[in-house]
Amino acid sequence: MTNFLITGGAGFIGSHLTAELLKQYPDSSITIVDNLSTGRRENLASFENDPRIRIFFNDILSMPELEKLVAQSSTIFHLAAAVGVELVVHDPVQTIKTNVDGSARILDFAAKYHKRIIIASTSEVYGKSAKDNFEENDDLIIGAPTHSRWSYACSKLIDEFLLMAYHQHSQLPGTIVRFFNIVGPRQTGKYGMVIPRFVQAAVNGKPIRVFGSGKQTRCFCHVADTVRALAALPDKREAYGQIYNIGSQNSISMMQLAEKVIEVLHSNSSIELIPYEQAYAKGFEDMMRRSPDTAKIKKLLGWQPERSLEDIINDVANEMRHS
Ligand SMILES: NC(=O)c1ccc[n+]([C@@H]2O[C@H](COP(=O)([O-])OP(=O)(O)OC[C@H]3O[C@@H](n4cnc5c(N)ncnc54)[C@H](O)[C@@H]3O)[C@@H](O)[C@H]2O)c1
Repeated sequence: MTNFLITGGAGFIGSHLTAELLKQYPDSSITIVDNLSTGRRENLASFENDPRIRIFFNDILSMPELEKLVAQSSTIFHLAAAVGVELVVHDPVQTIKTNVDGSARILDFAAKYHKRIIIASTSEVYGKSAKDNFEENDDLIIGAPTHSRWSYACSKLIDEFLLMAYHQHSQLPGTIVRFFNIVGPRQTGKYGMVIPRFVQAAVNGKPIRVFGSGKQTRCFCHVADTVRALAALPDKREAYGQIYNIGSQNSISMMQLAEKVIEVLHSNSSIELIPYEQAYAKGFEDMMRRSPDTAKIKKLLGWQPERSLEDIINDVANEMRHS
């Protein structure tokens, strides 16, 4: 029987992953650890009476039983992290502590007990690269430490280096996935995520606030497609010691996204441009484009996203209308 451990399981991706693992591995058990800092208890409501699920509302930085839970597991998905541009800019200390110390704790235990581990990293690590499509082995161009937003990318990079070090020195069966703007139902707009903010505004007929020039582009991938890829990774030995981009390759500017949200939801919202200094802090740096090369994960799993941007907008709006 497979025993999964998911850190950050009450979060957006973690809760969808829990459902996908139960679907694909019905005989498995799943242990979730989450301190509910950005996750929500309601995300796990449908699993509360499922005998295959154990939930611990604890902090990975301090939880004494964490080592035991790692030892009991067969595969770990490490998703717990301080996430979201707003949170990172406003609390860089907590971001660094959670993302560096928390990940180090999990990786140390995973190495000690030689456990399969998959850790979540981010497209932010590509920093200011001007390439059209980022590849896993690209050089990375991170901004100066005076700009706190880069603390997120750097803390995730330390996690990546640590996993690789354990893989090289003690054959840790570890894999890194770099997510590119994963979106869908249950994602909160509270910490600066763009799709929930835009959809919420459109559903309520309020102005959609586009930060910066609105010309910056992103690619959005439905969480249901994302967890399909994650759930296929545990058995893949070729993925040990590897990094994979996970995301869509269809890029869209933030202004076009606002227009698309209005069109798909038949909303009468207006669009307002908000300077970065007003949205975040003086000197805020953004990346103009962020698009993945996904050939590597496609080759490994035959995976590619199946859901469109319209599907994403409709799914997010339906959830908001019914909650
Ligand atoms: N959603 C995206 O587009 C995206 C993009 C890049 C990377 N990621 C990564 O994917 C992972 C999941 O992100 P998400 O979008 O589901 O965000 P999320 O905020 O919903 O999930 C993170 C979860 O970790 C929990 N957590 C935070 N600190 C913790 C701690 N110290 N102890 C225990 N639990 C803790 C939170 O409560 C939350 O439930 C994160 O590692 C994130 O960095 C996500």
